[in-house]
Amino acid sequence: MAAALIVCACACSQTAGPAIPRDRKIERKVERLLRKMTLEEKVGQMTQITATAIADGLEITPAGDSIMRVYKVGSVLNTPGDIAQYPEDYEKFISELQKISLETTGIPCLYGLDHIHGTTYVAGGTLFPQEINIAASFNCVHAYNMGRVTAYDSRAANVPWTFSPTMDLGRNPAWPRMWESFGEDVLLNSKMAVAETRGLQGDDPNYVGPENIAACAKHFMGYGVPVTGQDRTPASIASSELREKHFEPFRACLRSGALSLMVNSASNNGMPFHCNAELLTKWVKEDLNWDGMIVTDWADINNLFTRECVASSKKEAVKLAINAGIDMAMVPYECQFAIDLKELVEEGEVPMSRIDDAVRRILRLKYRLGLFDAPDTHLADYPEFGSDAHARLAYEAAVESEVLLKNNGILPLRKDVKILVTGPNANSMRTLNGGWSYTWQGHGASIPAFTEKYNTIYEAIAAKFDNVKYVPGVEYDLAGTDWKHDEATGIREAVAAARTSEVIIACVGENSYCETPGNDVDMNLSGNQKALVKALAETGRPIILILNEGRPRIISDIEHLATAVVDVLLPGNYGGDALAALLSGEENFSGKLPFTYPKYTNKFAVYDHKPSENQETMSGVYNYNAVMDVQWPFGHGLSYTSFRYSDMKVSKTEFGPEDVLKVSVDVTNVGRTAGKESVLLFSRDLYASSIPDVRRLRAFEKVELAPGQTKTVELELSARELAFVGYDGKWRLEEGDFILSAGSETCAVKCTSTIVWDEPNVIM
Ligand code: BGC
Repeated sequence: MAAALIVCACACSQTAGPAIPRDRKIERKVERLLRKMTLEEKVGQMTQITATAIADGLEITPAGDSIMRVYKVGSVLNTPGDIAQYPEDYEKFISELQKISLETTGIPCLYGLDHIHGTTYVAGGTLFPQEINIAASFNCVHAYNMGRVTAYDSRAANVPWTFSPTMDLGRNPAWPRMWESFGEDVLLNSKMAVAETRGLQGDDPNYVGPENIAACAKHFMGYGVPVTGQDRTPASIASSELREKHFEPFRACLRSGALSLMVNSASNNGMPFHCNAELLTKWVKEDLNWDGMIVTDWADINNLFTRECVASSKKEAVKLAINAGIDMAMVPYECQFAIDLKELVEEGEVPMSRIDDAVRRILRLKYRLGLFDAPDTHLADYPEFGSDAHARLAYEAAVESEVLLKNNGILPLRKDVKILVTGPNANSMRTLNGGWSYTWQGHGASIPAFTEKYNTIYEAIAAKFDNVKYVPGVEYDLAGTDWKHDEATGIREAVAAARTSEVIIACVGENSYCETPGNDVDMNLSGNQKALVKALAETGRPIILILNEGRPRIISDIEHLATAVVDVLLPGNYGGDALAALLSGEENFSGKLPFTYPKYTNKFAVYDHKPSENQETMSGVYNYNAVMDVQWPFGHGLSYTSFRYSDMKVSKTEFGPEDVLKVSVDVTNVGRTAGKESVLLFSRDLYASSIPDVRRLRAFEKVELAPGQTKTVELELSARELAFVGYDGKWRLEEGDFILSAGSETCAVKCTSTIVWDEPNVIM
């Protein structure tokens, strides 16, 4: 049968309207104000400075005051003093900045913080697990809750903007920021980022209410796959993969209304993202019809000159970045940017229309946030700041995000069992929270003061069980800055304590770090930590290995020594309590890995790899094969009960490009414990004109089941979601066979015609 091929031109595809419907009143105000502004005021609006450049702790210095006024700075970021502050102090600090801004230009200042897992920089606010955990819950409700609570607790501290959500695909486990994202999968990142954004911003991005804040989707894009695995080093992403995988979460998040976007610091195929006009202006602003604001990452205009070497001076870097579509520069320490940009406009190197476009976007954001009407919010209006109800949501997210990877029948534990808790991660809030927690790297001598009231793993286990001892065996330098360093301070003592225990809970993994300082050349769990586990194993006592880490550390040579393994990832302030409740059986595990856990340091993989990455040995003389040997696959996660999948049905076994497939599958709890199961629907395209991925996640939903209970889970999939981007850069849904699968169930379906389309802005 001849293939039916439809090539869509723009006119026949379902091109969407503006990503955010414009509000006429706001637009009129923006235009009126823009007409009155001088060039100096405009470039000032485009300048964002860090708090430490204008303040000494919480005091705005005379020099800082003058920088704000002279350069008419439109935005400030970061926590004053580089450490979390109390909400009343923020309120005062930011309202002083507002006063300066309003006196200088009549335009309120836009203050932004990296509240990437709750209020990371507001003491007493609510900290959630990191995004990697939220992803492991496979439950978008937690992303939404995190957004909502973050917004509320931020506004209580007078902060209207966060640099979150992060939707870099964490596809290189060596990369030190993997945990800031929702893992390796496209759909998971998209859905979670959309849910978090709705929680942050509320339902109407034009009117972000006093309990909501603006989101900033970041880092646009492909940041998670540096070739070297080291932060801020080049990527080499094919254009088809860029559009199909890396762009997709941004497309979804911006189309859902995210009001701002931060750019990837690094580069792809020789082009830094900060001067890529095609991506910033065409893909984002034009193709998506998106009218939000694009901010740079830290010093990244300068970096076009100083690091990336694509500009021969700072001033040329400004020209490249602004002409490419950047609206606001995170300078972050000094304002030469504003001087250079003004000159570039006067010299005709940057068109005034580009400046107006940038400033329009900045003013629109400030109006949408209500800052002109109410530049400040006040703690007194936020009685729920850091409340127990917020804490409960963070705890529930932690419970659903810790992943049971192995259980040879030892878990759950009896209350009276004699337990030894050991390992460098056993008694540390720093390691439970990870980076971006009270300080940038989550470290520092003063951190314990912020986390005193929360339980470490050891404290939570000691509170839950009757008979608990603690001997660290190996320790990090917790207050210091060398996060990698650990010391074997007492392996012998830990072994002695193990001999008088019935069970060993060995808590290993990583200490906290952030960004480039988190670069590491060895993905192995540290030698001291492995030595501890090996020595403990010699006692013959069963080991429950607790992994507390932002990225998977290789444990293939000690994994067999553990009777059970739990990866708690970075579960936050309530992660210790969640773990104790899970180990005791009070709560049931339901997390699943949002990334592929590697077994070898030289072999990283993702679940949506190409068929040739996992091949049987070829027959004949040449022994061509490839084995996908991973420690645990994407989506792996156990429970205290088991689930049976049956009766998978699909509404159409043959479908065309405009059809919607309704898939249903019965899931039964066949065990004796209540539990939650995330049902993951995968597709496999058997043959395609570009090499198909072996599997793609297409939908997921979490259900709760009592023992013996069956639920029919219904998932919808529009045919176009099965498309891929071909070698020619166009979206293609091709005629041919697909297999849909959920749990043990599969269904064969067939696409009856091929459709090819161009624009990323098509409603899918
Ligand atoms: C990070 C961003 C962050 C920004 C502001 C940069 O170093 O890459 O993720 O939002 O700093 O703190």
